Amino acid sequence: MVETNKICLITGASSGIGKYIAHEMVHRGWQVIAIARRKNKLDELGEVLGKERLIPMVCDVSKFDQVKKVSTEIKNKDLYPTLFFLNAGDGDEENDKGLDWELHKRIFDVNYFGTISWVNQWLALLKEKEGGIFVATSSIQSLRGMPGAAAYGASKSALNHCFESLDAVYYKDNIRFLLIYPGPVDTAMLKTDKPLPCTWKPKKAAKYIVREVLKGSTKIKFPLFWVILMKVVNLLPNKLYLRIFRMK
Ligand SMILES: NC(=O)c1ccc[n+]([C@@H]2O[C@H](COP(=O)([O-])OP(=O)(O)OC[C@H]3O[C@@H](n4cnc5c(N)ncnc54)[C@H](OP(=O)(O)O)[C@@H]3O)[C@@H](O)[C@H]2O)c1
Repeated sequence: MVETNKICLITGASSGIGKYIAHEMVHRGWQVIAIARRKNKLDELGEVLGKERLIPMVCDVSKFDQVKKVSTEIKNKDLYPTLFFLNAGDGDEENDKGLDWELHKRIFDVNYFGTISWVNQWLALLKEKEGGIFVATSSIQSLRGMPGAAAYGASKSALNHCFESLDAVYYKDNIRFLLIYPGPVDTAMLKTDKPLPCTWKPKKAAKYIVREVLKGSTKIKFPLFWVILMKVVNLLPNKLYLRIFRMK
């Protein structure tokens, strides 16, 4: 059903992984509703991919009233997406100078509430029709608490729990909730002093994500090196884990 409708919505489509997911979906014959705050970047993408294939819509996903307004506009245009790549994300450096309330709030507003707001707006319609797929971009960093990623890791971890729970509930209605767990991808979000091993380019990540989503994979993790590393980290006893990761 999802494949017959061929309209998808992508948040965070103005750059990085989301931009290349838009490329991939248009090349596969889908019409893309592209969501982000930077209008100029969305317009540039529209020029490249064709205005009839890519519909740009400006929206700050951290503002529920904007998600609501844009969702209503899409419905009023008689567009009915059945596949939602909820990919917009925010991450920032955290330090050890105290818990930054504003940072936690901002990151949760984008990464968690800026994802589930779309589910809130579209779930009833998908249920009424023939189903659909929500895909959330989590992170490999959500799998265990890491130094410097308290807010980011927690926001993505919350998303994992939420989507796992919703997938179990709405499976019967043919509505799926899939999770993507990227390791390092070379985008503006990746802020590191030194290059990390096995970092993927966003185009490669997007191709992999789209292929796996259309196959129906529930949990999509990459690159393999980081997947294996995180498996090992998860197996570490807590005492050893803390000894390795405690900051000096
Ligand atoms: N790069 C990595 O290593 C990595 C690893 C794991 C997970 N991820 C996740 O992958 C996703 C995509 O990130 P990326 O790596 O492609 O980074 P990116 O190039 O910085 O893309 C982030 C996207 O999110 C959008 N965005 C941010 N805040 C928004 C808001 N309030 N409202 C609407 N859109 C907003 C940005 O668009 P505007 O600024 O135009 O609004 C941009 O299109 C994120 O969820 C990120 O957490 C990335």
